[in-house]
Amino acid sequence: MGLLHGFVNVVLREGSVELINYLLEKTDTTGEVPMIPSSITFSFSNHNSLITMITLDHCRALDAQDPLRAFKDKFSLPAGVIYLDGNSLGVLPKTTSARVTQVVEQEWGNGLIRSWNSAGWFELPQKVGNKIAKLIGAGPGEVVATDTTSINLYKVLSAALHIAATDSPQRKIIVSERSNFPTDLYIAQALCKERGYTLQLIEEHEIATALTQDVAVLMLTHVNYRTGAMHDMSKLTQIAHAAGILTVWDLAHSAGAVPVDLHSAKADFAVGCGYKYLNGGPGAPAFVWVNSKHADRFWQPLAGWWGHATPFEFTPDYKPAAGINRYLCGTQPIINMAALDCGLDVYLATEELGGMSALRTKSLALTDLFIALVEERCAGFDIGLATPLNHAQRGSQVCLTREHGDGLVGAPSGAFAIVQALIARGVIGDYRAGDGKAHKDIMRFGFTPLYIGYEDVWHAVEHLRQVLVNEEWKRAEFNQKHAVT
Ligand SMILES: Cc1ncc(COP(=O)(O)O)c(C=O)c1O
Repeated sequence: MGLLHGFVNVVLREGSVELINYLLEKTDTTGEVPMIPSSITFSFSNHNSLITMITLDHCRALDAQDPLRAFKDKFSLPAGVIYLDGNSLGVLPKTTSARVTQVVEQEWGNGLIRSWNSAGWFELPQKVGNKIAKLIGAGPGEVVATDTTSINLYKVLSAALHIAATDSPQRKIIVSERSNFPTDLYIAQALCKERGYTLQLIEEHEIATALTQDVAVLMLTHVNYRTGAMHDMSKLTQIAHAAGILTVWDLAHSAGAVPVDLHSAKADFAVGCGYKYLNGGPGAPAFVWVNSKHADRFWQPLAGWWGHATPFEFTPDYKPAAGINRYLCGTQPIINMAALDCGLDVYLATEELGGMSALRTKSLALTDLFIALVEERCAGFDIGLATPLNHAQRGSQVCLTREHGDGLVGAPSGAFAIVQALIARGVIGDYRAGDGKAHKDIMRFGFTPLYIGYEDVWHAVEHLRQVLVNEEWKRAEFNQKHAVT
């Protein structure tokens, strides 16, 4: 299929039939949908032909065997919507509305200021943080839910620079990827200006060689927002540490999406997002983790009263709380925090079915299925794949590309319009603009195994095929840009 054939590593002929048979066979014997070995990939070269090798029935059979299928009922998904954008804004858990109403009407309405104590509001950042800790390989008391990812990044990067300046003042460089999420790069630029550092932006394959004696901090997003490509956190942290460099990880597309083990990776600092895979709602609090060996070494720069050791003594001098609590700043958004708590409870309920490991197995099966179906059913429309086929390098999203120049005048690739046409059909993904050069326009599809099924994947690809075959995306209404893409 156009550009897709470039990523196909031909291992099996008629790969998807083999894949589905493999899945069904393994599912029968183990009761679980298995991890597909990365050596099994798909081979389809029949452009425009609709010889369907994966059928809707195959997908339905996979749903029937899915141990996580009941979790979809825990979410309020609008009828007729296939939601493939949980990597941007997660779905509303069914418990959230009642819980938020309770916080507003009873805890705020009746309890008023007493609720800081009686309803446990004051401890909520730690309580929610402890639930997040279970998803990212951190211990109890090591994570707080607070502020935004951008603000938390400012705090931890600032702390990392302070430690580096104390231990090795000659190191004056922060290394990051050119394709990192812009807010990460902007925060780093602001700190570089303030502290006299330089931000060095590199490509993924240059990371290891860029880690020289001049580098203070390696700041990376674990799963890339544009491509869904995932770094090897342990390996890169090890290389960085061997060169005397601290690591800062953005887990915005990792927490709740892929297994993360901050302890075993020996990472130094991490931040992440509450409104994507954790389903905390728009603007949900983010989170921050600091390796306990660093936590007490520095006052983070936003030294507000919530990070004070004894905030209610109201002393004029700042004395930081021990450990991660000093990474709090001011009064927290309790209603949003309660909503995030509901999102996390859904994750904790998966623990008896294998938790993140079971979610990862299904996530890989869903993304493999989507890739195979797109290749099989959408051939000949100049669609490429930005997401790695190798499981060890893949997050929980699949990013399709289109070449600049393939779209209408003023719509350089058609990717934006294709996504809009899909949204009109109820298949919600999103679009991320390329630069017309190395970075192509991206159609992003996030796969959240809590509420996406195999049949959803089949229908999503069928909608994509119809949008392409009928050239629906060329309609004027799908080519009008909005403020948020
Ligand atoms: C990797 C990454 N970091 C940070 C953010 C956003 O941070 P904030 O919640 O502060 O807007 C995003 C948003 O999509 C992201 O993808």
